[in-house]
Parts: sequence; C-alpha cells; structure tokens
Amino acid sequence: MVKYQVIKKSKTASGEVNIMSDGISAEAMQAHATIEALLSENRVFPPPEWFRAQANVNDPNIYDTATKDPEAFWAQFARELDWFEPWHQVLEWDPPHAQWFLGGKLNASVNCIDRHVRTARRNKAAIIWEGEPGEERVLTYWDLYREVTKFANVLKRLGVHRGDRVVIYMPMVPEAVVAMLACARIGAPHSVVFGGFSAEALRERINDCGAKVVVTADGGYRRGNIVQLKRATDEAVEHCPTVQHVIVLNRAMDATHVPMLEGRDHWWHRLMEHAPIHCEPEAMDAEDLLFILYTSGSTGKPKGIAHTTGGYLTGVYATTKWVFDLKEDDVFWCTADIGWVTGHSYVVYGPLANGATILMYEGAPDYPERDRLWELVEKYRVTVFYTAPTAIRAFMKWGPQYPKRHDLSSLRLLGSVGEPINPEAWMWYHVYIGGERCPIVDTWWQTETGHILITPLPGITTTKPGSATRPFPGIEADVVDERGESVPLGAGGYLVIKKPWPGMLRTIYGDPERYVKQYWSRFPGVYFTGDGCKRDEEGYYWLLGRVDDVMNVAGHRISTMEVESALVDHPAVAEAAVIGRSHDIKGQAIAAFVTLKEGYRASSDLMDELKEHVVKKIGPIARPDDLHFTSELPKTRSGKIMRRLLRDIAEGRALGDTTTLADPSVVAALRQRYEEQEV
Ligand code: WT7
Repeated sequence: MVKYQVIKKSKTASGEVNIMSDGISAEAMQAHATIEALLSENRVFPPPEWFRAQANVNDPNIYDTATKDPEAFWAQFARELDWFEPWHQVLEWDPPHAQWFLGGKLNASVNCIDRHVRTARRNKAAIIWEGEPGEERVLTYWDLYREVTKFANVLKRLGVHRGDRVVIYMPMVPEAVVAMLACARIGAPHSVVFGGFSAEALRERINDCGAKVVVTADGGYRRGNIVQLKRATDEAVEHCPTVQHVIVLNRAMDATHVPMLEGRDHWWHRLMEHAPIHCEPEAMDAEDLLFILYTSGSTGKPKGIAHTTGGYLTGVYATTKWVFDLKEDDVFWCTADIGWVTGHSYVVYGPLANGATILMYEGAPDYPERDRLWELVEKYRVTVFYTAPTAIRAFMKWGPQYPKRHDLSSLRLLGSVGEPINPEAWMWYHVYIGGERCPIVDTWWQTETGHILITPLPGITTTKPGSATRPFPGIEADVVDERGESVPLGAGGYLVIKKPWPGMLRTIYGDPERYVKQYWSRFPGVYFTGDGCKRDEEGYYWLLGRVDDVMNVAGHRISTMEVESALVDHPAVAEAAVIGRSHDIKGQAIAAFVTLKEGYRASSDLMDELKEHVVKKIGPIARPDDLHFTSELPKTRSGKIMRRLLRDIAEGRALGDTTTLADPSVVAALRQRYEEQEV
C-alpha cells in the first residue's frame, strides 16, 4: 500500500501540535481532508434535537439547582438506590476528610443485581461477553445473581470474612465481574490488579493490602497469545505471607500445564460445583471500604486508592445515568479493562447499578483484524460506546475503511476518557464512528475521583472538539495559579476541586499522611488534581495533561520514578532519568536516559535487557520506547534532573535524530546551550 508522509499542524487548546507523522494509508489521508474542512469552521456541536428530546436529563436548570444545594442533589440519586437503613446525614466535611450518607447501610452487589432480579429485568442480559478467540456468552441478571452468590459462598468457605482483602488478577471475562461483586456481597474489599502487570508488581500490591485470597485464571487471550496469569501469580505469591488461597479460573483451556499447589490452589469450577446458591448480603456501612485500586503517583510506590460504598455507588450510578444516558434497551460498551478505575466504575458498578446491558470483550482491537471492535458493535447492536483517545488515534491511523465495513447505525452516543482528546481525533470519532449523528462526551476524572467530574451532559451541553466542557452538576471545580487563586476565564493554571463529592477517595490505603500531603497540601483545603487546565471565555475546561511526574502512556498512568526505580534495580545501571515524550498515538511514550556503572558497556543487547528488566519489574505497559545511554545526566546545580532538556532531546527538538545518544558530549553541549539561554 502506498504510504504518505504527512505532518500537519493544527490548533489545540494547548497550542500547536503535530498529528500523524508516519505511515498513513490513502484512506486515512482522505479522512484527514474531510476533518480539516470541518475543523477550519471551528464548529460547536449543540445536542441534536432527537437526542435532547429523549435524554435522561435535558433541563439546563439542573446546574443551578445542584449548585444551590449539592447535598440535596446527590441525596436524590442516593435515594434511587436500595438501602437496608437510611442515612441520617448526607455529608460530614472535616477537611480533608469527607463522609457521605452517614449511618446508611447498603450493599453494592444488591444494588447491582438483587434489585433488578426482583423486577422485569430478571431475564435481561446483564453481560454480553465475547472472548478473543470468538466464544460468545450471555449472562442475564438472574445468571449473575446465581454466579455471584455462589462465588460469595466459595470465598466464605475459604475463610474470607468481612473486611478481609481479596486480590483479583484476571483477564476480561465475566468471572472477573462475578469475583468483584462476590467480594462486595460479603464485605471483603477487592483490589483488582490489571492482567498486564508483572509478577513483581502484583506481589507489591498483594503485600501492600495484605490480601488473604488471590483470584486469577490460568491465562487470558491477547492477540492470539496466552497471557500466563497463573504463572505470574505463583511467582508473586511465593513472597506473600498473607495469602492463604489462590482460586484459578480455567480460561485458557489446558493450553499450558498449570501446576496447582495442594492446599493453596483451587480450581474455580471445582469450588463452584458444591457452592450453594443464595448468600445473605452484608449490610455495609456507607463508609465501609468497597475497594482499593492501585495507581501511580509522583513517587515510585503505587498508591492504594481507597473507595467506600455509599458515596462511590451514588456517584457512579448518577454519572452513568446522566452522562451515558442509559435506557432500558441500551447496550453499553466501555472498552476499559476492569483492572483500571474506568472498568470498575463504567463496566461494573455504574452500568449494573443502572440495570443496563454491558458488552465485555476480552482481547485486542486489532485481532484478528483491525475491524474487530466495529464487528462487535454491529453484531451486538451497541448503542453507547466509551473508549480512550489513544485507541481513537490508532483507528485514525489504520483508516476509516475498517469502521466502514460495518453497520454502526445502532450507536447513539460516544464517550472518551483517559487523556486529552485532540480535536482531530474528536472529529474523526464524530464522523467515522458516530456518523456525524452521535453526541460525544469527553469525560475527565481520575482513579481518585471515582467517577466522572468534568463532562458534557449529552442532552444539554454544546460540545467543542477537545474540551471536556463543564463540571458535572454539584461539582465545584476551579482553575488556580501558583498561589491558589482563581484565574480569570481565558487563562490557564492548575485544576482543583473545591468541595467534596460522593465518590472521592477517602484515603490512601495504609498511608493516611500521604493522602493529606498528596492531594490537600498544595492548596490547603482544596483537592489538587495534578492536571493543568485552561478555561476559555465561555468557561469551558480544556485539560492540558499532568503537571507532575506522572506520564500518560496510551491512557495508562505511569510514574517516571517507578520506571526509574525499575532501571536502577538492574546491576548495570548507575543512574536513570525517565520522561514522557509526545507520541502521535499513545499520547506519550516513555524515554529513558541511563548512565552505566563502571565496567559495563552500552550495547543494543544491554538496551534490550534493560527494557525487559522494566517489563519484569512493572509490566509490558511500562516498557521504555526509547532508551538512551549517556555518560551523564543533565542536572541543575542543586542536583535536580533537567527534565525539560531531556524532553527536548527525546523529542528530537534540539538534535534531530537521537535514537542512540552514545556521544557523551551531546548532553554536555545541550546543557551548556540551555544554561546560556537561561541567563
Ligand atoms: C488522569 C487520571 C479516570 C479515567 C482513566 C484514567 C487524565 C483522564 C481525561 C480527559 C484529559 C484526562 C488526567 C487525569 N485524564 N481523563 N477526559 N481529558 N485528561 O484514570 O489512571 O487515574 O488517570 O488521566 O491527566 O489526571 P487515571
């Protein structure tokens, strides 16, 4: 196929950006021309009338109503959930500690299952699942009830009590959802670890939360290969003194021989054979822990973000209902893995609390072909689709011929999450996936926020490509300067949230001081997001990316320090500095600068070995894209690594091609040039 070299410049909120710089198909070129034309009109997109008329919320006054009395606003959603006992107070705010729905008792699994089973939704599909090799399964709400209550009994029989932690390390299969909800049923907080994390990363998380049981699978499918989850679990659990049992789902079907340790390891299907159906749900306090989810911060050690039951469930229920506009006959597909917060909130808890039908797909978007997702949309008549900009940019690069092979007319609403979406990607999504018909909701939030905080409401908000628009009703956000003062419209600064919201993290598990320091100290009494943001003249929010040492690589949050620690863990490495450089598809790519210890020589073999070492320590998502050997790292006089300079080198700004920076004089020369500029 003929490839064109295209470098286009176009305006975004953050200034000039390059889009699409290599290997673009003729079809993709054509698509570009269309989008270019649309962009030059600088269009805004009011909600289509057909959408507005049927939307769950279409009255713009709800913003004022919510602002006037946010507690009453959230309480109204909470009342739509099932409670064993009502709360006596909506909010207790003792900065930086919030409690929501005090005294209320509820159970998340009851809200996601039992209350639907009692209605006409009993036989409605809860989960439509497709495995990567092509198997199809449908679980109705009643099926889900049976599986969850049985598995809850399995956990109990293995000695899991209310308050005990359970780690879930599984592929995207319905049993992963079953395991999460079974934990919720018996009041055992779960901690899901993404299947792409390594054994060592898994071990660190198991030990941090002191899990009693690990639920895993023999393997999961990814691009035709089997990801060896049980093997990694064995390696991890060897040094996990708290783990008493490992439950193994037989997913990869004897493709490998799986050694089972007598007394510790149990096959899922064997345990389920004897498990009784029905399991009395625990009446959890609204503020009891529902789950812990680890995420990267600006230091090396991952943070266990702690979410509680009542507020979190209210927040995900409300945002799913209003942002994704779910109705009884929708088929909702959030493509996130359950190992991330997006999977927790918008694959599991939000949609199931709403009694929706979700689609779950196990594998890669380009397997066996690049139209796999569109094939699934057509086959299952997906109506609401939610994915990440990095995926959209990959679709763009592959070209519109793939979605064009399929009938996507069932879609009525599209969503984006995980990183800023560039206007080009937004327009492509709008034209080629949304058929110029579907509203797009660009949703900003974080693992810590639990649910969406800044987003359009598809029946109300006029959208602008590239802007997450406005805070959700009841959310008080602001953009502030260094001193914490609100900047005028049209200016940029730090994104902060000024009032507590129901799904807000309650603490960092096992490290309450870090919770205060990390989020509430930069601007006292105000939640610091770590994101830069600009508001335009109309008050629309344009997210600009992280302002700390956290990278966003293909929508995955990875800290530079975590990768640096992994590198210096290798015997050859003296010092390492890691930065995120801009990347057309992934948003950011990982560039590492490494100095070697005496006696080690730079070579391409060593380069591969170091990259593999990072994979071993963290997982494939953290594999450095580039690795530069250098005899020194550029530092300021006070010893701080000059990251801006490294970014310039990695992005080729100062040097042209720098794929191997073997020449030690290069960094020195660059630093000199910078120092001259600085004076
Ligand atoms: C960081 C949080 C919660 C979703 C999955 C990521 C970035 C997230 C957007 C958006 C611009 C976004 C921010 C944020 N981010 N959504 N719509 N526009 N940036 O969760 O791993 O906790 O990462 O993702 O930088 O701080 P996460």
